[in-house]
Amino acid sequence: MNDTQHLFDPAWVAAQDAADPLRGFRDEFHLPVHDGAPQAYFCGNSLGLQPKGARAMVAEVLDKWAHDAVEGHFLEPAPWMPYHALVRDALAGVVGAQPHEVVAMNSLTTNLHLMLVSFYRPTRERPAILMEAGAFPSDRHALEAQVRFHGFDPATDLIELAPDQADGTISMGAIERAIAEHGPRLAAIVWPGVQYRTGQAFDLAEIVRLGHAAGAIVGFDLAHAVGNLPLQLHDIDADFAVWCHYKYMNSGPGAVGGCFVHARHANTTRPRFAGWWGHDQASRFRMDGHFVPAPGADGWQLSNPPILGLAPLRASLDLFARAGMDKLRARSLDLTAYLEQLIRVRLSDTLQIVTPRDPAQRGAQLSLRVLAGREAGRALFEHLASRGVLGDWREPDVIRISPAPLYNTRTDILRFATEVEAWRSDAQ
Ligand SMILES: Cc1ncc(COP(=O)(O)O)c(C=O)c1O
Repeated sequence: MNDTQHLFDPAWVAAQDAADPLRGFRDEFHLPVHDGAPQAYFCGNSLGLQPKGARAMVAEVLDKWAHDAVEGHFLEPAPWMPYHALVRDALAGVVGAQPHEVVAMNSLTTNLHLMLVSFYRPTRERPAILMEAGAFPSDRHALEAQVRFHGFDPATDLIELAPDQADGTISMGAIERAIAEHGPRLAAIVWPGVQYRTGQAFDLAEIVRLGHAAGAIVGFDLAHAVGNLPLQLHDIDADFAVWCHYKYMNSGPGAVGGCFVHARHANTTRPRFAGWWGHDQASRFRMDGHFVPAPGADGWQLSNPPILGLAPLRASLDLFARAGMDKLRARSLDLTAYLEQLIRVRLSDTLQIVTPRDPAQRGAQLSLRVLAGREAGRALFEHLASRGVLGDWREPDVIRISPAPLYNTRTDILRFATEVEAWRSDAQ
């Protein structure tokens, strides 16, 4: 046996899985079925799997609605009036925040607009936003709309930093140079925690440090980072962050989003788009028409939250609280390293890894470019799906494979590699 052969030995791989301290969490999810067996599901970066506990949380709301109707707002367990507060502590733990710095509300893009209304305050001298070129389109749309809304010109005031590295990633040096070059004109920097296409994770603390030194507000889109990487939003001094809960947070399609506002801004007098649910809780029901913001992130809420939408998040957060973000990250590092190893040992003539090699610069996901080109890439992607190995496809030529540490196994990853090999030998 050469020294990598065991990596491809199903018995060795199964033994590794059986010895994994977090192995039990897989049983707490519904695994999609393909030809009578569980899929090897690698799309947790798109839509996380359903925790088995989610159904009971949703049923509790439906039952209460059926039996108690309007009184459900006040009746234990889990009264709806303070329902969003039920997720607060666990969510703060996942993103490294103080509890009053986070709130679950709306959806990511809505929250991004709400944050920009308060934190992007362009002036003639300082009108610009720095973002990455090739950002998720919704971010680009929101930022461009905000620049225009304030009467500025995206052509000059929306600065999009292009990747400077051959694999399409952006070096910290390039970010530093852009901040140095545009610093005096920067009102805000909006950056991803993990880039959706390349899987690159950024040094958020350093981006905040450089941005603040240049006099800019710094906010993050954490869609691909939350539940994937341990975050320390409070300690790194981020001004704001927004995210969704349907990816690594496993809270269901279109799940309610998340928002972080640093404690420094808890009682800000900055403008905001206000709504009654952001009104100070103690006096909200005086209904006197005078807006008194609740301190902290709660003050940005608009409407009473969709309780049915929040319910699965409770089930998901329970899993994160039990597993612990640090242990999940350790497992994630192992799983992704194993995936990388299999590709480097046997598949490097077929797949190029776009995601940075340094584990500190990536989360769970590896983005894989099929060397034979787009058509071959689509064919491989479809072959994998037909064998119950589900990644996702991002134009023009990337297959994203994201082993989620709560439910994926090394056996899933071996199945992926085996199917790529099978496709390759069929194609030859
Ligand atoms: C990086 C990123 N930003 C923004 C969004 C948009 O999220 P939403 O539809 O919840 O506003 C997504 C959705 O997948 C995303 O991946």
